[in-house]
Amino acid sequence: MAKNWTPSSWRDLPIQQVPDYPDADALATTEARLKKFPPLVFAGEARRLTTALGRVADGQGFLLQGGDCAESFAEHEADNIRDFFRVFLQMAVVLTYGAQQPVVKVGRIAGQFAKPRSSNIEKQGDVELPSYRGDIINGIDFDEKSRIPDPERQIMAYRQSAATLNLLRAFAQGGYANLDNVHRWMLGFVKDSPQAERYQMLADRISETMDFMKAIGITPEANPSLRETDFFTSHEALLLGYEEALTRTDSTTGEYYATSGHMIWIGDRTRQADHAHVEYCRGIKNPIGLKCGPSLEPDDLLNLIDILNPANESGRLTLIARFGHEKVGDHLPKLIRAVEREGKKVVWSCDPMHGNTISLNGYKTRPFERVLSEVENFFHIHRAEGTHPGGIHVEMTGKDVTECTGGARAVSAENLSDRYHTHCDPRLNATQAVELAFLVAELLKGGRVNENKVAVNA
Ligand code: PEP
Ligand code: CO
Repeated sequence: MAKNWTPSSWRDLPIQQVPDYPDADALATTEARLKKFPPLVFAGEARRLTTALGRVADGQGFLLQGGDCAESFAEHEADNIRDFFRVFLQMAVVLTYGAQQPVVKVGRIAGQFAKPRSSNIEKQGDVELPSYRGDIINGIDFDEKSRIPDPERQIMAYRQSAATLNLLRAFAQGGYANLDNVHRWMLGFVKDSPQAERYQMLADRISETMDFMKAIGITPEANPSLRETDFFTSHEALLLGYEEALTRTDSTTGEYYATSGHMIWIGDRTRQADHAHVEYCRGIKNPIGLKCGPSLEPDDLLNLIDILNPANESGRLTLIARFGHEKVGDHLPKLIRAVEREGKKVVWSCDPMHGNTISLNGYKTRPFERVLSEVENFFHIHRAEGTHPGGIHVEMTGKDVTECTGGARAVSAENLSDRYHTHCDPRLNATQAVELAFLVAELLKGGRVNENKVAVNA
């Protein structure tokens, strides 16, 4: 058990990104209610995820983490969850084939509501209002009332998370995730893609493998592992009062677990070693993610690793690199070397979204080619350092939105306004997401990276 830690010890420390709740009593009452609500996940599930991630840290697996930048109350529909899950599983099957290793599937879903903001204030014309901080805190509409933090929203977010997780569990275990289905969806994607020729070969190999398996009697009907899948949830542990209320003691081990999701992560803006978010996360036993942006120096990272994973347990800590396609070459190698020098066990994952956001025609967007370029550079750097490029972390949706530019069925700057629905950052749409998985699968197979493409700092 972490020393001098309690689920509320974060309250004594400096904290970033705190909403300004006008009514402290109402907030305390809500948190007290949440404390009595059933946990959303079990400690045993979180432990299973740690074990799976431990294999990734040891080079024996690949992590696929993805979903909305911010879940919203308005988009809480069965179709959205189903379409996300469908695309996510297609990505996973393609990556499994590319990696020839198990893919650990972790959604940014069923709890991904609270958002860190670069400014406390949003200005439109002459009007200034508090920034939108995610549906769990306040409303996105640009009016005074919506922007007041409302504790009741935490209850709504909890209930939405429970309903979302319920459907995801049904999909994962109830037959929908059957490998035959996923394979069929994937073939449909390839057939419709302008890049069909490029993806056909990999798709054919997957089909051949499945035919072979069938021929020798390995079918979904006979094998639960082809019928069902392990799917885990994750979100940024930003709203610590909510996280504290859902922190529970595991009866089998006596350890504390965050039961708001299987994995939680610390954002790039809240990773100060002596502040509240790191304090909260060090005491819970779930697998933890840590966003690593350009301002993170190797010594700071080593210090954070010591705080968050003092026992150097494989799978406990995932470092999510999010530097930007041009900066990754300057920043990642020195962090990898520090981690290797000290023998720290981590999963290295690449978030190619958050360092590649630009503004076009008044929209926040991310060019697909920059997203891909950051992933390529990430792989290339790891290969040069002899370390394992262990995963990707993406913002994506199962819908055909127009939020990121580019991709095989190119979204242009002019198209952005067509279906721009995100509540926060721009997401890959369904085709861009599966396309990224095919391109990453090629990287995993080691066939495509141009050795001279990136300048790795010596
Ligand atoms: C996010 O993942 O949505 C996010 C805010 O990321 P970061 O902390 O890396 O900026
Ligand atoms: Co985001």
